[in-house]
Amino acid sequence: MRHSKRLLPALLVIVCGGTLLAENGEAAWLRYAPLDPQTARTYQTLPAAIAVLGDGAILKSAQAEIVRGIRGMLGRSLRVSSTVPPEAAIVVGTAEQMNRLDSGLAPGRALRGDGYALRWGRVRGQPALVVTGATERGVLYGAFALLRKIAQGESVTALNEVQIPAAPVRWVDQWDNLDGNVERGYGGRSLFFENRGVRADLTRAAEYARLLASVGINGCNVSNVNADLHILDRDFIPQLARIADAFRPYGVQLGVSVNLGMPKQAGGLEGFDPLDPKVAKWWQDKFDEVYRAIPDFGGVVVKADSEGQLGPSAYGRNPADAANVIAQALRPHGGLVFYRAFVYNHRLDWNDKKADRARAAYDIFHPLDGKFDDNVMVQIKYGPIDFQVREPASPLFGGLERTSQAIELQITQEYLGQQRHTVYLVPMWKQVLDFDMRVQGRHTPVKEIVSGRSFQRSLGGFVGVSNVGLSDTWLGNHLAMANLYGFGRLAWDAGLSSQAIVDEWTRLTFGNDPEAVKKIGEIQMASWPVYESYTGVLGLQTLTNITGSHYGPAPASQERNGWGQWIRAEVDGVGMDRTVATGTGYVGQYSPEVQKTYETVANTPDELVLFFHHLPYTFKLHSGKSVIQSIYDSHYEGAERANAFVAIWASLHGRLDEQRYDDVLAQLTYQAGHAMVWRDAIDNWFRRLSGVPDERGRVGVHPGRIEAEAMELQGYEPVDVTPWEGASGKAVVCARPAPSCAAQTRFEGAAGRYEVDVQYFDQNNGVSKFRVFVGDRLVDEWAADLHLPAMAPNADSSTRRRIKGLALRPGDTIRIEGTPDGGERAPLDYIEIFPAP
Ligand code: GCU
Repeated sequence: MRHSKRLLPALLVIVCGGTLLAENGEAAWLRYAPLDPQTARTYQTLPAAIAVLGDGAILKSAQAEIVRGIRGMLGRSLRVSSTVPPEAAIVVGTAEQMNRLDSGLAPGRALRGDGYALRWGRVRGQPALVVTGATERGVLYGAFALLRKIAQGESVTALNEVQIPAAPVRWVDQWDNLDGNVERGYGGRSLFFENRGVRADLTRAAEYARLLASVGINGCNVSNVNADLHILDRDFIPQLARIADAFRPYGVQLGVSVNLGMPKQAGGLEGFDPLDPKVAKWWQDKFDEVYRAIPDFGGVVVKADSEGQLGPSAYGRNPADAANVIAQALRPHGGLVFYRAFVYNHRLDWNDKKADRARAAYDIFHPLDGKFDDNVMVQIKYGPIDFQVREPASPLFGGLERTSQAIELQITQEYLGQQRHTVYLVPMWKQVLDFDMRVQGRHTPVKEIVSGRSFQRSLGGFVGVSNVGLSDTWLGNHLAMANLYGFGRLAWDAGLSSQAIVDEWTRLTFGNDPEAVKKIGEIQMASWPVYESYTGVLGLQTLTNITGSHYGPAPASQERNGWGQWIRAEVDGVGMDRTVATGTGYVGQYSPEVQKTYETVANTPDELVLFFHHLPYTFKLHSGKSVIQSIYDSHYEGAERANAFVAIWASLHGRLDEQRYDDVLAQLTYQAGHAMVWRDAIDNWFRRLSGVPDERGRVGVHPGRIEAEAMELQGYEPVDVTPWEGASGKAVVCARPAPSCAAQTRFEGAAGRYEVDVQYFDQNNGVSKFRVFVGDRLVDEWAADLHLPAMAPNADSSTRRRIKGLALRPGDTIRIEGTPDGGERAPLDYIEIFPAP
């Protein structure tokens, strides 16, 4: 009690300050944190009442959101009324409802689709802040837009704006399996499924719908594209209906993935030939059943004849046949088919220099242009391969003029660091969206093609593979949420700049402190180029382990298999010749003007040059550097810049809430260590293959590095790591029976303060413990408890521990003790000692 008086003022500051409250990330950008008192005062003229002109569920959400937001940000409780009160009010309703009330309130310009309007008017002589839309969904988007403005301290006294989304379709896909696992998900287990049923508690699913709606997303496919045969079984449909119920108040339509084999495999028919009338009837009956339970069901996603999925080829039919039989069953109900163009042969012949996976989507779908029904969209991944760190825009966008399209972007960072690395994807997406396909010599940027504008399609849009999960942070990393946010904002308006989107997201997520907005924006804006530069440069793709985890470096995994992500790295050169003249002919799938860019090395930008051309390592690029030196240099620069993110973040200490500050600091620190693993693996691999030394003498030369296998070992034994570039020399692991092991070395340098990096392997099959001693003094200890996708010492599990400011004298013994656990045998790679900065 004696202390409580003294503590009280401090606690009040924390509570009133708002931004310093502990936060776990679950509120994402919808925190509605209290504004600072000065900014809050500028909203004094905001009405104290809110009127809602109807009782539709979505309108109710709009009202509830405004009440909640204003209470959180301004500390004021609005008076709620179902009729317009005799005082100034925020009036919420559709344009039609506004018209009925007072024709002067409906927006001057006609609202369309999911558009909204925010403006001031007068009702019964009283001022009214009108939040309206053509549909209830539009009204909800208007409510979120209004709150977004207030959260950023923008004035709303002269509001008068109309916003119409560029594309009608703005969906996210989840790759959730019915057992609750999320394919390529890094944010925990499914929000929707567990034990082959729909979860009893759908609270997070409803919260997800709210997050999605807040950025204008209007549909969510909840199940893996590698579809479960039983998702539309009779007893499953009522369960799906519960998810739809959770989504409905936020205007998010439910979709699922279907498997073309369902009529046979789940429906008991003899076959699944899309042209068989019995099969057509099966789909028809099935969707009649679905719509009886879920009248606003949005549609289905189809992955067929791809990576082992059944497809129309089994009957000699084509994707249009397959899409249309489902589309016809959905059409009477207004449902859509998202037919994925990710169809390719994964058993290509590596020895065939003309074989090229990049060609597949265009080769298969372009001849079918005009053959798809009106409620079908062909869903096209942004590049011709598979969500790599940089790819050219898929030529198929320009190859379908009489077919509706949707672009598929990947929010979950499958090949881009799996949310353990910060990579703000909006700049990468924009590069593709802004790319001008020059169809018929016209200005036809991808964003206008997919929104339906270029070829006057009434359908079209954006699909983001999001794969959030039950983790508090949704995606598994606070900063990664800028990608979910950015996806929604771009799908609404692809003209927004990457910087504007990230600034907006930061303000909503971390508050309006200008320093935080600046620094976080700096990290995010740099993050994609930085990640690219320590992974795969010059259009080589990510160079990750493509036959396994898709996480750490494993350049050789691209080659000598049927998957077709080849980079053709040979002794004298690297890159895939995709030209018309001498290569696979892929370049010929673009319009003549675009072909001119990619057909010659001279016109191809450096950043994609090895995607299109095979070049000698010594070839001089536009940058003036040789191919090999560019590879070496960018990996060093990238790792250095990733390291600098840690210091930038640390400069925000005290300006952010502790929990998220600490979480992100730990994540960026890990990333900086793994960026070095990437740097060394890729540079050493190319050094060995090309035989060309780094002209700056860094590759393979590590002053201050002491290999674990060169240390004095007790209980540890050296092992080879596969692939070899995942470790520096060999690794050491505790010999099987040893309860603990030690590796020690004598420090031979001058007395001073040093940093010591301990490079160890953190596998997923045990939690080893490490202790570091200098002489008898314990200077650090930790547990290898990260969840990395590896069960062995390799580039996926390689992790750095940095011990800072360590006083060392010549002759000191540095000793690392490892205690193994389970299958993880306290593996070590090396230590590196360098003077403290
Ligand atoms: C990638 C991914 C798969 C996924 C596939 C797809 O290859 O690794 O998990 O199923 O894309 O998009 O269909």
